[in-house]
Amino acid sequence: MLDFKQEDVVILAIESSCDETSAAVVKNGRNVLSNIISSQIDIHKRYGGVVPEIASRKHIEAIDYVVYDALESAGVSLNDISAVAVTYGPGLVGALLVGLSYAKAVAFASEKPLIGVHHIEGHICANYIENKNWEPPFICLVVSGGHTHLVYVKNYYEYEILGKTRDDAAGEALDKVARAINLPYPGGPKIDKLAKEGNPNAIDFPRVLLEEGSFDFSFSGLKSAVLNYLNKAKMMGNEIFDADVAASFQQSIVDVLVMKTIAACKKMKVDKVAMAGGVSANSCLRKFMKEACEKEGVTLNMVSPVFCTDNAAMIGSAAYFEYIAENFDGWDLNAYPSLKLGESRRKQFE
Ligand code: KG4
Ligand code: ZN
Repeated sequence: MLDFKQEDVVILAIESSCDETSAAVVKNGRNVLSNIISSQIDIHKRYGGVVPEIASRKHIEAIDYVVYDALESAGVSLNDISAVAVTYGPGLVGALLVGLSYAKAVAFASEKPLIGVHHIEGHICANYIENKNWEPPFICLVVSGGHTHLVYVKNYYEYEILGKTRDDAAGEALDKVARAINLPYPGGPKIDKLAKEGNPNAIDFPRVLLEEGSFDFSFSGLKSAVLNYLNKAKMMGNEIFDADVAASFQQSIVDVLVMKTIAACKKMKVDKVAMAGGVSANSCLRKFMKEACEKEGVTLNMVSPVFCTDNAAMIGSAAYFEYIAENFDGWDLNAYPSLKLGESRRKQFE
């Protein structure tokens, strides 16, 4: 039997923005009582990437079981829940709508408040889960399949985007290059593994830094450079060492991510860095970011891989701060595939 204090805030959170159906129960923003993730990767693998229509259908099949499992694993009933939280953007619209409609139905039936959560804010809030003392302000490097952002996290509610990708996200570039060397979707973790057997200095791929002082990123030129290298080698009949390609390409991405993150700390005079999103599980990025932060006297927070990739626990954490601020949503809350970070939903849709 769980011992809840009256002031405890217990959130049932749902995440379905891409290819994981997830539900979690989170207490007071930092204590994860359950975090159930049903992945569709094996289905999308056949097509080399996420097929939106299939993703929506699979969310519908899984969501009931996942939510029941989350409640049961946490040992709570809907009576113990303070609010129902759900990702309402950004993401695939059909996929988002499944989680959103389900969350609305549960909240309405159980007479609990509804809280819509920004997916990227969720990724950032994953940093509060394992490190109970981690607090803003800090610089957060958000690197996922769909997003690459350098964010100044001012407090639990305010996010300032310092820079973002102008084309491909880091994860997207990793997935596309992985495909070119015949690694299955999602390519990021496969590149991570293969790169361990390769030489990161074997091929001199570009480090695209853009204009002086810019915190934006661009990875499509690097991706093209790798594809050109592969095509040229094939045409000339040269042998291709996939592990060297993976290691050199990964190192180019990591160098730029680390360099810009440290530059952002200096500019904003902040001595704390966090990472978020699927690519922050990358072992090379973790190693080089750790070394750079140690060298610069910056405190680094990294989260366990399960909280880097999509999960509902991070949504439950972000929702806690909205709950405290009494930022509740109405039954008219919609799904927003291109929801921006850093502007409250009220400002965006007024
Ligand atoms: O955050 P996430 O689960 O979903 C989005 O919100 O996009 O991130 C998925 C991305 C994929 O591109 C995947 O290849 C990448 O994260 N990823 C990795 C690793 N694990 C996941 N990339 C590099 N190394 C990893 N270990
Ligand atoms: Zn994500």
